[in-house]
Amino acid sequence: MSNRKLRMGMIGGGKDAFIGAIHRIAANMDGQIELVCGALSMHADVAQESGKMLFLAPDRIYNTYDEMFKAEAQKPADERMDFVTIVTPNFAHFAPAMQALENGFNVVVEKPVTFTLEEAQQLKAKVEETGLMLLLTHTYAGYPMVKEAKQLVKSGALGKVRKIYVEYIQGWLSRLSEREGNAQASWRTDPTKSGKSGCMGDIGTHAAHLAEYISGLKITELNASLNIVVDGRMLDDDGAVLLRFEEGATGTLIASQVAAGEENALKIRVYGENGSLEWAQMEPNTLIVKWLDKPAEILRAGSGYTDRLSSYATHNCRTPGGHPEGYLEAFGNLYRNFALTLSAKIEGREPKAEWLDFPSIDDGIRGMAFINNVVASNQSNEKWTKYTI
Ligand SMILES: NC(=O)c1ccc[n+]([C@@H]2O[C@H](COP(=O)([O-])OP(=O)(O)OC[C@H]3O[C@@H](n4cnc5c(N)ncnc54)[C@H](O)[C@@H]3O)[C@@H](O)[C@H]2O)c1
Repeated sequence: MSNRKLRMGMIGGGKDAFIGAIHRIAANMDGQIELVCGALSMHADVAQESGKMLFLAPDRIYNTYDEMFKAEAQKPADERMDFVTIVTPNFAHFAPAMQALENGFNVVVEKPVTFTLEEAQQLKAKVEETGLMLLLTHTYAGYPMVKEAKQLVKSGALGKVRKIYVEYIQGWLSRLSEREGNAQASWRTDPTKSGKSGCMGDIGTHAAHLAEYISGLKITELNASLNIVVDGRMLDDDGAVLLRFEEGATGTLIASQVAAGEENALKIRVYGENGSLEWAQMEPNTLIVKWLDKPAEILRAGSGYTDRLSSYATHNCRTPGGHPEGYLEAFGNLYRNFALTLSAKIEGREPKAEWLDFPSIDDGIRGMAFINNVVASNQSNEKWTKYTI
């Protein structure tokens, strides 16, 4: 048990933002973390107002992250923040993340980890140099039944993995919302703020991470076709990728943000020699396992058969079966595992293996490489692109 709460700062996530509020709910979920300071918006007036709404101490509501790092670094060790959460658009991840590490603060950062692969590599070097921790919030790795799926593959029960099909389908960019004042659409479709890919960077990276996380296999080659479906848009809003993985597995990844009427339909199927698994994020407490030679099984999060589920799944369940857990709890699990590990580190205790199971800078590098390779493959006349980092 830790003897104190961890102190958190936040960059972005003001009242003008989407995901910052989700991070605060998640960080609050287990009482291990308290928000002590923030530079909550790119607009000073919004930053101030947002800090007041969260009842932050007035002298810890900062107008810029520069100010925040300088002031927090000066504070006594028992007051200053332990880590900072960066929930700004993609182009504004790298600079504050580097500054945080240089000032001795651990980092939680949204995906994709940076704007370019080179930045992600520099960040990795800085994480290694400082020995500080970095959590990358690939949300879907926080779901208990995703963890169960990973452990099931790892156990060998399904046999050698042959096929991986992953799809991430949304409809919210079916119109040119970036021209209609939608702030989230506006930067995501702008190559100077989002990066060199739109849909594949925003949600394709989640799908690729999920495929590699569950299967334990890395993508080695890919063949991508990207589309701009909505006239006037600057970046891909749809696409499909053929995948080759280590150990001979193959698969497909499809991602779209123009599938009108669709919500957040992330789904993965993994087929081995003896059986397969299926998980869908809109029914996240269920893992379907199908066998070649015996009836299919439906595994449920929070079930009474705790000895049937792996410790990685049960550690990340919060409520008894039938009480739906979802997106917020998955985010909460990422924060809890990060906090348990960080507290153990601060207090010189050994973290448990289940706590260490959260995405890191290495996953961030894979994500940035995925974007680069998908864009290169789409532009190339060659059929297949070797997955380079
Ligand atoms: N893991 C997930 O499931 C998930 C979901 C949504 C968004 N995201 C990621 O989260 C990040 C933010 O996305 P969003 O939809 O919340 O964006 P948003 O546009 O809603 O919010 C961005 C916030 O950052 C602030 N900001 C921008 N530049 C800043 C700066 N220099 N200093 C301080 N604040 C600054 C803005 O004022 C705003 O408060 C993106 O990287 C996105 O890819 C991840």
